[in-house]
Amino acid sequence: MKIIEKDQKAKITLKVNGEVHQVEVEPRRLLVHVLRELGYTGVHIGCDTSNCGACTVILNGRSVKSCTLLAVEADGSEILTVEGLSKDGKLHPIQEAFWDNHGLQCGYCTPGMIMEAYWLLKENPDPTEEEIREGISGNLCRCTGYQNIIKAIKDASLRLSQKAYPHQ
Ligand code: FES
Ligand code: FES
Repeated sequence: MKIIEKDQKAKITLKVNGEVHQVEVEPRRLLVHVLRELGYTGVHIGCDTSNCGACTVILNGRSVKSCTLLAVEADGSEILTVEGLSKDGKLHPIQEAFWDNHGLQCGYCTPGMIMEAYWLLKENPDPTEEEIREGISGNLCRCTGYQNIIKAIKDASLRLSQKAYPHQ
């Protein structure tokens, strides 16, 4: 077993949006800070008690709150952040649906909300309103009142079910 002392750094590898990063981190560093320091500043910090979901990313296929994971725990994992969703400047259908349905105002919750929607729609491609509300219940928004976010996610589920969006 490899032991890292508290004043030592661990070498870890993270694959973020397809790009491999090797970084040295103290064992106590949170993944959210390391992602932001690597330049993925769309990953936001909205609380310090794991409620808000502004830090949500997809880690090895599942949505996680990156503020509540140590970076060393994520060693070797594949991570998708909101920066990795568009392809060659073309928005992902979920991003387009948030735009078209006015599913954001200040935009601070939006990257986390979109990543949660991404995971939700992978798990359940045709969710009911109830299932959408439940699915994003770990993501707080102070601006929209959620209604347009629900509309956007429903709209995104329709867009994703059409062959017009073959890349996802
Ligand atoms: S920053 Fe609030 S849950 Fe992660
Ligand atoms: S758009 Fe401002 S917090 Fe959601």
